[in-house]
Amino acid sequence: MSDTIRIHFVCLGNICRSPLAEGVFREKVREEGLEDAFEIESSGTGDWHVGSKADQRMRQTAKRHGLSIEDHRASQFKASDLEAYDHIFVMDKSNLNDVLYLDDDTHSGKVRLFREFDPEPGNYQVPDPYHDGREGFERVYNIVDRTTEQLLNRLIDEYNLSPQNA
Ligand code: 4NP
Repeated sequence: MSDTIRIHFVCLGNICRSPLAEGVFREKVREEGLEDAFEIESSGTGDWHVGSKADQRMRQTAKRHGLSIEDHRASQFKASDLEAYDHIFVMDKSNLNDVLYLDDDTHSGKVRLFREFDPEPGNYQVPDPYHDGREGFERVYNIVDRTTEQLLNRLIDEYNLSPQNA
């Protein structure tokens, strides 16, 4: 197999949207038996929550869907991540702006809105659920679930990967 495909999901705080995207994508990769093909990470553009667990409401939402993101600890996106990762998927246009601000125009082609891969893209942004109730977190889960599904299928095609459990 060729080199590992390095994937990085980015939101603002790295405690709600991107840890979920990381966890759901990781699980789908595992189900396809493709763990060795990917390196998967997430971070936030802000530093307020560095070192924290994912937001309890997001941990509970994940758990309701049979997924644990308990091991996650928040980190901040850094300029060197633009070099270190092959694909950087951002949750909203503000994240896109903040990530591209760190770029010297060499890596901008790697940075894309995550919801470009959503079969129902809406406004192409994953809404920030931080000030929402359970319903908002559930909405984010549904967006992330269907978008990661499509994203993984696109990467399988692009890189000619062979799922082991198909
Ligand atoms: P996230 O959500 O970007 O999906 O992790 C947020 C978490 C924290 C804050 C904002 C959004 N905050 O302002 O602290």
